[in-house]
Amino acid sequence: MVEEQRISSSGDAEVAAYLEIAEEKRGRQPKSLEEPAPGGEREAVVVLNFGSQYAMLIARRVRGCHVYCELMPYDSPWERIASLSPKGFILSGGPASVYEPGAPLAPDYVYESGLPVLGICYGMHLIASQLGGKVAPGMRREYGQAMLHQSAGSPLFACLPFSTPVWMSHGDHIVELPPNFVRLAYTENCPIAVMSDGKGIFGLQFHPEVAHTPQGKTIVQNFLYNICGCRGNWTPTNFIAESVERIRQQVGVGKVICALSGGVDSSVTATLIHQAIGDQLSCIFVNNGLLRQDEPERILNTFRKNLEMNVVCVDATDRFLKRLEGVVDPEVKRHLVGEEFIRVFEEEAVKMGKIDFLAQGTLYPDVIESAVSESRVSAKIKTHHNVGGLPAHMNFTLLEPLRYLFKDEVREVGLALGLPEEMVWRHPFPGPGLAIRIIGEVTRDNLEVLRAADWIVINEIKKANLYRQLWQSFAVLTDIKSVGVMGDYRTYGYVVALRAVTSEDAMTADWAHLPYDLLARISSRIVNEVPKVNRVVYDISSKPPATIEWE
Ligand code: XMP
Repeated sequence: MVEEQRISSSGDAEVAAYLEIAEEKRGRQPKSLEEPAPGGEREAVVVLNFGSQYAMLIARRVRGCHVYCELMPYDSPWERIASLSPKGFILSGGPASVYEPGAPLAPDYVYESGLPVLGICYGMHLIASQLGGKVAPGMRREYGQAMLHQSAGSPLFACLPFSTPVWMSHGDHIVELPPNFVRLAYTENCPIAVMSDGKGIFGLQFHPEVAHTPQGKTIVQNFLYNICGCRGNWTPTNFIAESVERIRQQVGVGKVICALSGGVDSSVTATLIHQAIGDQLSCIFVNNGLLRQDEPERILNTFRKNLEMNVVCVDATDRFLKRLEGVVDPEVKRHLVGEEFIRVFEEEAVKMGKIDFLAQGTLYPDVIESAVSESRVSAKIKTHHNVGGLPAHMNFTLLEPLRYLFKDEVREVGLALGLPEEMVWRHPFPGPGLAIRIIGEVTRDNLEVLRAADWIVINEIKKANLYRQLWQSFAVLTDIKSVGVMGDYRTYGYVVALRAVTSEDAMTADWAHLPYDLLARISSRIVNEVPKVNRVVYDISSKPPATIEWE
């Protein structure tokens, strides 16, 4: 899962894997700073997770209201919760039924704290059954949109119309309210769709966190602002100010190294750390020869000239291409690129003398996912990073200033730090780069062909103003040759495939329904402007069953 999620560009991914694998070999965990969650003076809300498939969405909804929140396992100890000084709890949904033996329960501190509580679906059932009400299976599962009608006024409904559509997904429902609770709203199939004790405990049968509940954000915001008393101080500017302060304290006079790839995660990580400690940070940018057209120049220009950062650039094209000679297997390509990256990175790091910290662009979904996946066995589809061991003499402490941020928050922070829009909104690019977008052997010649085709794709997508709506868009150089005709001559050229997908997180993706005239323009430009290509096809497969990359 973590592998699947690692969509940041090469540097971060490879260094992370580097540490993980090496530490695994040595039988201990990578040394990581006990990073305090950014609680402190900041108002925070805790989302207790009972296994909901929407738990991450709840956290994003809360953050979207400018309130800091953390997603925690439902059985988290009070000490961990207390360190955040929360202003309220949200209890997520979950697959269990509260009346089944062994069903996960909300810890006593939730009710004893006197803090506001919002229970969503299973979270609502918990409140009902733990506080003396009754939950039972419904006649049938309710799944889909329903119309919610208010039956009593509440600050939870501020700015809401009397009736509003909501998204339901449940089998159980409340058949008896706990003592001192009242019903606040109902739907046709659900007599108790919202309940409250009038003192800050609320239960919702529907899911305010999903897009299918159009007023969901208002409901969550009402809970945060009107019930918990939050003011919404979770802003990029505040995050930057606090992070800069914390990084200064953590690092002191130490030296930090960061693998810069040009992806948004490593770029924001480096810029934030640079703002905190200036030249105590050194970045290493490895040009592996597998990047997109003009990418190395663009990245270096931004960081060296515009941001005046200390960036060592290593042009290791020859080394990478040499290792890839004759290799056609995608997993072997990944392995070789990852391994070579680490070698180059290590050689450069050694030249820099003693380094205390390694900066990484780890994000919150990675943190959550790795906690979940530790207990999960899943089939390996692709090895997104696969590299050799960490040399014993390189003993860094990890510095991960973005480990509590979601991707959209990283982008906001990037913009607030003054990074150019094109960098902040850059599509994810895989660590092994164009090597896994060339089917078959990677050579200088076919890299040139792919770069030229890819450049046209990106340019046309940007001109059509579709770049930001897409998760990724690129060209793939297939190993198929086909017959064509140009002028009066027969041609025998390559087939280029276009790939454009929409996605939230790369776990699933839909092929993008690009306008026909855009597809026609891209195709015509590629066959006319890129030598050796005479045919263009559009990939209309979604993930699953396909994956985003072809290899
Ligand atoms: P797939 O092809 O598995 O890709 O659907 C999901 C996301 O991950 C990116 N990707 C990689 N990123 N190293 C990376 O750092 C890799 O080896 C790798 N393979 C795929 C891919 O671009 C997409 O965003």
